Amino acid sequence: MENDNCWLTKPSAEGFKKYKIIGASVVLQTVEEEMSGLDPNTNETFLLGKIDNLPASAVGGLAIDAMGNEGYAIKDLGDQVIVAAKTDAGILYGAFHLQRLLKLGESLKGIDLLESPKNPVRMLNHWDNMDETDFMGSVERGYAGKSIFFENKDFIKDKSRLVEYARLISSVGINAISINNVNVHKLESQLITERFLPDVAEIAGIFRRYAIKIFLSINFASTMDIGGLQTADPLDEGVRLWWKEKMAEVYAAIPDFGGVVVKADSEGRPGPFTYGRTHADGANMLAEALKPFGGTVFWRCFVYNCQQDWRDRNTDRARAAYDHFMPLDGEFRDNVVLQIKNGPIDFQVREPISPLLGGMKDTNQILEFQVTQEYTGHSHDVCFLVPQWKEYLDWDTHSKGDGSTVAKIANGSLNNRQIGGIVAVANVGRDSNWTGHKLAQANLYGYGRLIWDTDLSPEQIADEWVKLTFGLEPAVVGNVKEILKGSWPTYEKYTAPLGVGFMVQPHLHYGVNVDGYEYSPWGTYHFADRHGIGVDRTKSTGTGYSAQYFEKNHEMFEDPTKTPENMLLFFHHLPYSFKLRSGKKLIQHIYDTHFEGVEEVKAFQQKWDELEGKIDKASFHNVKERLNRQLNNATQWRDQVNTYFYRKSGIEDEQRRTIY
Ligand code: GCU
Repeated sequence: MENDNCWLTKPSAEGFKKYKIIGASVVLQTVEEEMSGLDPNTNETFLLGKIDNLPASAVGGLAIDAMGNEGYAIKDLGDQVIVAAKTDAGILYGAFHLQRLLKLGESLKGIDLLESPKNPVRMLNHWDNMDETDFMGSVERGYAGKSIFFENKDFIKDKSRLVEYARLISSVGINAISINNVNVHKLESQLITERFLPDVAEIAGIFRRYAIKIFLSINFASTMDIGGLQTADPLDEGVRLWWKEKMAEVYAAIPDFGGVVVKADSEGRPGPFTYGRTHADGANMLAEALKPFGGTVFWRCFVYNCQQDWRDRNTDRARAAYDHFMPLDGEFRDNVVLQIKNGPIDFQVREPISPLLGGMKDTNQILEFQVTQEYTGHSHDVCFLVPQWKEYLDWDTHSKGDGSTVAKIANGSLNNRQIGGIVAVANVGRDSNWTGHKLAQANLYGYGRLIWDTDLSPEQIADEWVKLTFGLEPAVVGNVKEILKGSWPTYEKYTAPLGVGFMVQPHLHYGVNVDGYEYSPWGTYHFADRHGIGVDRTKSTGTGYSAQYFEKNHEMFEDPTKTPENMLLFFHHLPYSFKLRSGKKLIQHIYDTHFEGVEEVKAFQQKWDELEGKIDKASFHNVKERLNRQLNNATQWRDQVNTYFYRKSGIEDEQRRTIY
């Protein structure tokens, strides 16, 4: 099956010749391929190279200091357009930028721009499994087919898809990927052994050409699982030595290996707690082994009690990451980066920002998003997540006074950290369109673009993606953008209300099940009873979670009349008659939004149907079929949520619409 080129058309066979690249390297070979694929009708001639290698007359006026290592300048000098950078990676990003501009139909006449990524680390985590089970090559929380890396308990034989993938994500500035699931099973533990290291090296070679570094998720208990030791105690000398030798072996195979991603003491994974050690002990032990080679440890903070008794109203999962990691601030080595999910629970459609972000000031941090739509509709329902990510990035933590945004914390600038950036769980698989739902490509594209430049608006990103993907016809651009723009608010309307979260089918995490997690050990409860709903997380009467925020935010979250309404039930348990700022009762808001959500999905269908014949058939039918599924899903959500609350509360819908 032919792969979908997405936003990145393949270089044309005709070959474009009007360019010169100064220098030679594997990355510049890629630049060569990209430049020779430019539209042959393009009028300009191009000169690309590192600043030091370009004629002084060409680079004279450039603001080189502002460029950073991966940045670039594109400037029209009259007789030619130059792309100048400090590194080969910068030149590559510049070449992709040119392609984007030309495909968007923009003129290069008089162009004079300087770009530099806002985040040093721009990463994707793949949750791909080799598996020893029937599901070989599965992707945890993947909705676009099997793994592009693994099949048959091994690496995939045909690597051509990986070249396309490297190109795709490099074109939006991704510079790091981890290729295996954070839940490392027995077989994947062996990725760092001689059995699989040659394959990892081959993969690293593919991605190296696109300036992307490879990371592996590792099993914290590798010393026992593959090393033949009796312990994984991070303070044990034998364990420390084993990891040092292991990393030397890995770097001998892959000299530019990025490092490791670790999920420890989380959802059944092994970790330092078994030995009475802290997460700093565990992460630092690995950091020490990676240090001589310049490697990094991404240590995940998704640590909580997943064996909770639902009757226990004092334990609050939202508090867990902060409670575990805050006391360790300042104890981590400089090549450890704590990887923190955007919210304190788990990628719900609406959560407050994690208070750890900005809470810790003396520790490298990286923000984790989820591009794959685990709780936001899988690849069935459209949900453009860029506006959600943008809200998180713009959120003011007040960590160092006003203006201490999450964007500045993540990229390291607020606390002068050396390493920082953003990582996300990827959403690609072997489906020909990469993401299952064609419109879910916009999340992959948008993720890359937004973390490159956190000042971009979701509207601009959507505009780019739609034009690059479906062409410039205004009717198409308008309709697809409207659907994308409305999709997150719509999804939020018909699912769990006002930040309460988790009314999903257990394990699957798609589709409604209001009490699906209510009596489970996972710590994700909504506490609905006949009087009201929500979790009291205030300091005065609840779990005290709200006090993990800096004072301004704490004050706001402490008081239901000040808490942003979309997070109201995350912080407060409120009666159904509670009056929202609109004057509407809470229960009526729940009814209304659920009716509205379904109507909005119908409107998406109408907008999409108008595009028949205006876009390629495969995409048209793909999205049409998914929108049908979405309508069914939204209707189930509406009817089950509304019926549930009607039965609990006994309060009628003011408009007397059908509630069962
Ligand atoms: C969620 C998700 C798991 C995943 C975990 C994680 O719990 O459902 O599949 O392993 O997050 O982020 O580690």
